[in-house]
Amino acid sequence: MAQSVFSGKRIVIGVCGSIAAFKVAGWASELAKDEALVSVVMTGSAREFVTPLTFAALSGNEVHTAMFGAGREEVMAHISIGRDADAILIAPATANAMARLAAGMADDLLTTAVLASRARVLICPAMNPRMYDHPATRRNLQMLRELGYWVIDPESGMMACKEEGEGRLAEWDTVREHLARSLTPQDLLGQRVLVTAGPTREPLDPARFLSNRSSGKMGYALARAAFRRGAEVILVSGPTALPCPAGVTRENVRTACEMRERVLAHADGCSVIVKAAAVADYRPEILHEHKVKKEQIAKELVLEKNPDILHELGRRKRPGQVLVGFAAESRDLADEGLKKLNRKNLDLIAVNDIGGARTGFEAETNQILLISRTGSEKLPFTSKAHTADLLWDRIVRLLP
Ligand code: CTP
Repeated sequence: MAQSVFSGKRIVIGVCGSIAAFKVAGWASELAKDEALVSVVMTGSAREFVTPLTFAALSGNEVHTAMFGAGREEVMAHISIGRDADAILIAPATANAMARLAAGMADDLLTTAVLASRARVLICPAMNPRMYDHPATRRNLQMLRELGYWVIDPESGMMACKEEGEGRLAEWDTVREHLARSLTPQDLLGQRVLVTAGPTREPLDPARFLSNRSSGKMGYALARAAFRRGAEVILVSGPTALPCPAGVTRENVRTACEMRERVLAHADGCSVIVKAAAVADYRPEILHEHKVKKEQIAKELVLEKNPDILHELGRRKRPGQVLVGFAAESRDLADEGLKKLNRKNLDLIAVNDIGGARTGFEAETNQILLISRTGSEKLPFTSKAHTADLLWDRIVRLLP
């Protein structure tokens, strides 16, 4: 399996004085488990909420609190912490910390370390909704964005102060994806990509449908990887149990016809289209408005062919656009894959062996046979996340 994107990366977490600081202690622990080298800087007010000992224990490193410490190491800490960082995550970021950063101040260890750094700085605001909505805070956020900081928007909901609104610290899953993006080479920056994922459901009546075993995991892994590599990602997804990957715009569909409609609406504006969805080839000819009683169900189901979305995309492909298909096969993988590549006018096809228990449908792992216009290549047996990155490595080479 591939290494975590965080492995060996120097990540500085700047903790400010907010009740949400306790959540960030968990983040430090997650990053340390992923083998990141986590250094924590705590402001004075942060230490009113959580002790440095908590962060030291969870990050596995000493916590920095003072601008001018007594120890030799600490004398130049305000410079070295920022200079050596691969990324700086300020979480929770208070209105006060954001105002000082927006003004370019360097009046404590955290703000000084930020100014002394050229690493990507991610800011996760957390505060009372009215403070967050104040024009001064809005102005500071705007200024921070203009200065190149990445602001990860807070969420809406009930706050510790019992007020409801925007200002709750973003969830770790979201922050982790943005942090991963900041540490990943941006070889898809400026590209808009469309990924389809999951099965489609073809209803027979309000209770029953035809579908297949696709879990959506491969398509979601592709969408997540594309976001990390800098792309703007649209994910058109059939019904799955998976949460939408952070940073990705998801459009949910149910049937092949709905998928076709959404895919065609986006296709022209995308430089890469990856059709990982397992689209049902047929739908019941008749859709009953009311549930059909079991005694009345015909023994033979009459089916109607669904549109082949990928084939249509191949016909209308514009020059420079990269079109990638998937094929689920249980035998003659190379022959079947090549036929589909040609028939559907694809640049690349990923052939899944659905015969194995650890590849294809539902599995966490995969092994893909990749066929392009110039040859074929068997990717290693690995996680779907790693497979997604290996696939994007090949797709990037096909971009004009
Ligand atoms: N696909 C599609 N629209 C369909 C059927 C398939 O866009 N109605 C796309 C899938 O998203 C996938 C590829 O085509 O990228 C898979 O093709 P597949 O269904 O395996 O091949 P078929 O050409 O339908 O051939 P067969 O089922 O006979 O293997």
